[in-house]
Amino acid sequence: MNLLDGKLVSAKIKEDIKQEAAAFLAETGRKPHLVAILVGNDGASETYVASKMRNCELVGFESTNIHFDTSISEGELLAKINELNADGGVDGLIVQLPLPKHIDPERVTEAIDYRKDVDGFHPVNLGRMQRNLPCFIPATPYGILLMLAHYGIDTSGMHAVVVGRSNIVGSPMSILLARNSNPGNCTVTLTHSRTRNVKEEVLRADIIVAAIGKKHFITADMVKEGAIVIDVGINREMSDRTKSGYKLYGDVDFEQVAPKSSWITPVPGGVGLMTIVGLLKNTLEAAKGSIY
Ligand code: GUN
Repeated sequence: MNLLDGKLVSAKIKEDIKQEAAAFLAETGRKPHLVAILVGNDGASETYVASKMRNCELVGFESTNIHFDTSISEGELLAKINELNADGGVDGLIVQLPLPKHIDPERVTEAIDYRKDVDGFHPVNLGRMQRNLPCFIPATPYGILLMLAHYGIDTSGMHAVVVGRSNIVGSPMSILLARNSNPGNCTVTLTHSRTRNVKEEVLRADIIVAAIGKKHFITADMVKEGAIVIDVGINREMSDRTKSGYKLYGDVDFEQVAPKSSWITPVPGGVGLMTIVGLLKNTLEAAKGSIY
């Protein structure tokens, strides 16, 4: 078993980003600028956004967190997005999901200028990604690709099984792994809540991406000997509050599965840290205008 060490890889890539941000500042007189909009008081979302802001500061980006009360109307939120779209001092713009029920996430996603959509959720970026054209790739799948690339893992010809079809992780991950590129070139199975026999599908996998949001969903009996295991789960157990926050559990039962795997990501210390790296890289590229 080898560890895919998010702590080590993210620290290394963040150091590169920091140098590029410094060069950008020297050249343009300004820092790459990410704006994150948060609506309401979801505890996990607040933690994620705070971490994004903190990491921006760490690499020398400017960051702004705009926090709205749950009562904001969809129209008011869309007006703010339009204002930020038009603001030349803003490079990247993200709206943290989930949103309150009275706001349509699709309308919000499409309102963001795709050239500032560093989450890679806009249909223009999604379509360009599928065509293997320059685009913003969603942060978590991007981070996973960077991790695989860092360790020089050649996924060509592998059977990949992605568990979970979310817009944020599972669905884009399945597209990326099937693309004609490396990491990529996989034969991909995308499983979800209506899949008849998930265990049977996962057992076929050379590479498993677990993104269902259920603690220890992937158990040892579902994993082929020598498989690569990527755990996207960040499940918080409310009963396990520690001094520094909540205890986190992956979608994979690490203790059981690790001995069978060739490579595996820990939780915490794996994909979560790489997600931040994906977002930072997208923000830097937005500032430099290297994609659009
Ligand atoms: N909610 C969970 N993950 C994400 C993410 O990567 N971006 C945004 N905007 N919301 C999220």
